Amino acid sequence: MKVLVTGGAGYIGSVVAARLLEAGNEVVVLDDLSTGHADAVPAGAGFVRGRVHDAAGLLGDALRSFDAAIHLAAKSLVAESIRHPELYEENNVVGSRLLFDALASAGVRIVVFSSTAAVYGEPDVVPIPESAPCRPLNPYGASKLAIDEMLAAAAPERGFAAVSLRYFNVAGAYGPYGERHEPETHLIPLALAAAGGQGELQLFGDDYDTDDGTCVRDYVHVVDIADAHLGALERAVAGRHDVFNLGNGSGYSVREVLLRVEAVTGTTLPVRVVPRRPGDPAVLVASAALAAERLSWVPRRPDLGVIVADAWAFARRRGVGAA
Ligand code: UFG
Repeated sequence: MKVLVTGGAGYIGSVVAARLLEAGNEVVVLDDLSTGHADAVPAGAGFVRGRVHDAAGLLGDALRSFDAAIHLAAKSLVAESIRHPELYEENNVVGSRLLFDALASAGVRIVVFSSTAAVYGEPDVVPIPESAPCRPLNPYGASKLAIDEMLAAAAPERGFAAVSLRYFNVAGAYGPYGERHEPETHLIPLALAAAGGQGELQLFGDDYDTDDGTCVRDYVHVVDIADAHLGALERAVAGRHDVFNLGNGSGYSVREVLLRVEAVTGTTLPVRVVPRRPGDPAVLVASAALAAERLSWVPRRPDLGVIVADAWAFARRRGVGAA
């Protein structure tokens, strides 16, 4: 297949692009490098620098040659989305609409979209099924939900074979491809940086209604996430929009993650408990039964120790912990 990967210079997108290439696909990355990195685009992939808004103009007639698009380009910082909701509307929602218009005009009908657990907000039931009510707590989650809904409408109207993949907590790395967010907000890379001597780890709240008082999340390996996209490309059904949660179905508390980071890195982490981060649900754990059934998706790297070890190997490559 010839696949357009928007956001393919980012963390998850670069791994998606790498896995697509390994599976024998042709890949072109479209990324404006606002948060991605040119050197994260895998060798062998084509690269077009620009926004998804301009896909039609940037790719021109070449867009017609694609079989499918995987759309990951987005702004994805929860706190920024609360301060600047308009950026999330303009980048994520408007950009997606323009991209989908361009794809439809060019006859590209298979669309796999990068959605998020953030669409659910504070869940009533854990593990969370796809049928759970969507009540996003921030404009980031709301923007992703709006795009899911856009695809739900576009699939029957435009003949899209559309799939939204709702990621839970993506973590780990794949060789040279890993998390390089600026600023970094995610727990595992920040804990690894602290293990490498780059400051202390702030633990956001130990007074939640969980076993040890810290938030529980479903950490899923970025390679497993990437492979779900390959499965979705194959199984997408014309005229339908399907939604799948992607998680391992097991939750780890922040303290459990920090213990695993200490074990992997052989350090004692400097940790300071600070107040809760606004908008953090206590527990987010996926039911990924539907992805197992319909995409034959079975996470191959569910072990948190492996996830942390792979992220640590990537951090070391980038100089974290170098004496
Ligand atoms: N945490 C800390 N200290 C830190 C960073 C995180 O204690 O320095 C805690 C958070 O409070 C949370 C857990 O670690 O309990 C995980 O936090 P992350 O920021 O790594 O991930 P989130 O669960 O906040 O984010 C994920 C996705 C987002 C999505 C969000 C929905 O990465 O894209 O779930 O809640 F929006």
